[in-house]
Amino acid sequence: MKITGELRLPGDKSISHRAFMLGALARGTTIVHGSLESKDVQSTRQALQILGADIGKHGDVWTVAGGNLREPASVIDAGNSGTTARLISGICAGIDGVAVMTGDGSLVNRPMARVMRPLEMMGASFLARKNRFLPMAIKGGKLAGISYDMDVASAQVKSCLLLAGLKAEGFTKVKEPSRSRDHSERMLAFFGANVSTEGNTVEIEGPQEIEAREIFVPGDPSSAAFPAVWAAAARESEVVLRDICLNPTRIGFINVLRRMGADISFENARGVSGETVGDILVKGGALQATTIEGDEIPRLIDEIPILAVAACFAQGTTVIRDASELRVKETDRISALVNGLASLGAHVEEKSDGLVIHGPLHFHGGSIRTYSDHRIAMAFHILSKISDTDVAIDDRDCVDISFPGFFSLMETLG
Ligand code: S3P
Repeated sequence: MKITGELRLPGDKSISHRAFMLGALARGTTIVHGSLESKDVQSTRQALQILGADIGKHGDVWTVAGGNLREPASVIDAGNSGTTARLISGICAGIDGVAVMTGDGSLVNRPMARVMRPLEMMGASFLARKNRFLPMAIKGGKLAGISYDMDVASAQVKSCLLLAGLKAEGFTKVKEPSRSRDHSERMLAFFGANVSTEGNTVEIEGPQEIEAREIFVPGDPSSAAFPAVWAAAARESEVVLRDICLNPTRIGFINVLRRMGADISFENARGVSGETVGDILVKGGALQATTIEGDEIPRLIDEIPILAVAACFAQGTTVIRDASELRVKETDRISALVNGLASLGAHVEEKSDGLVIHGPLHFHGGSIRTYSDHRIAMAFHILSKISDTDVAIDDRDCVDISFPGFFSLMETLG
């Protein structure tokens, strides 16, 4: 079904988390406009409140009075949010005392050793279930900077170490195998921190104070990807997505869609609170298959479910590889995609680090399991819209993790 229209998307999830965290660490009162109002960001706000931040809301605007974080008196529940768990661990490492953290049924099975190990090298200590999972206790205090080579490209690990590095004595240097989203680096600089990037290495000297700021959160490109793929795959569609974060480390999916033949342009690009923001214009047409691999994977990791949907409507064989990180997201997204597509009548190949899709596929209606993963739910809803089939989604409420109002907003287009 073709679509036309103009949309404003909810605030960027990654930037919203970081605005509250840096606000809580900064001296003074930070003002946050346009925050995503979702369960994940709520988990971050509650964690920071437990750590002593004074957070308030006046109309649509949030305030964070920072600078006084302390040992928490109750358990931090990161809910479904990996970003909350990993980044708040870095903050707790710099606080004198013990913090206990847990999460929901998905988060308690996601890897935490990737932040525990380097934080231990900096001087924090941990007691964790099976030595690597939540629930865990973090003993923070005096930290020393380290030089750390990450084995996976992860913005959560990098950001965790930068937040710990802000409080540590000396230089903290973090090197990634390929560049992941750089919102923490940008926002730290926006809050006045001295932080530098060279190639895939970021360096921060501690201890440093940061200063409160007024911050405007742009629209989330990961949310924009759903209507963007719908418009790209449905001929004669034309959609404008307003005020979206155009940070190059986040819009890998646009490069892929262009490579597949989509007509996508940017308008009104401008700098806002340390990020580039602008409008995305997508026109529908015939799509061709592509290969998605290597260094571009971290820059579109959250968009792979919806890119897999785009591949279903493209001519030829699309290969997605080097994406084994998908297996440790909110659910194992490779197997959730393969199972869902198969149950709608598609033949796709599952690989250890990705999947292969032979398009164009023809779908019959059916039902899919989301495994309560928001991006799986939204990807299959868009598939049902493009293919004009009925797809029953077992858990529709899980979209509230990143995109409250998703279903009704999509109705305004079709
Ligand atoms: C995020 C980083 C990514 C991404 C997640 C948000 C962030 O996770 O998948 O949705 O805000 O830093 P990894 O760092 O585990 O790749």
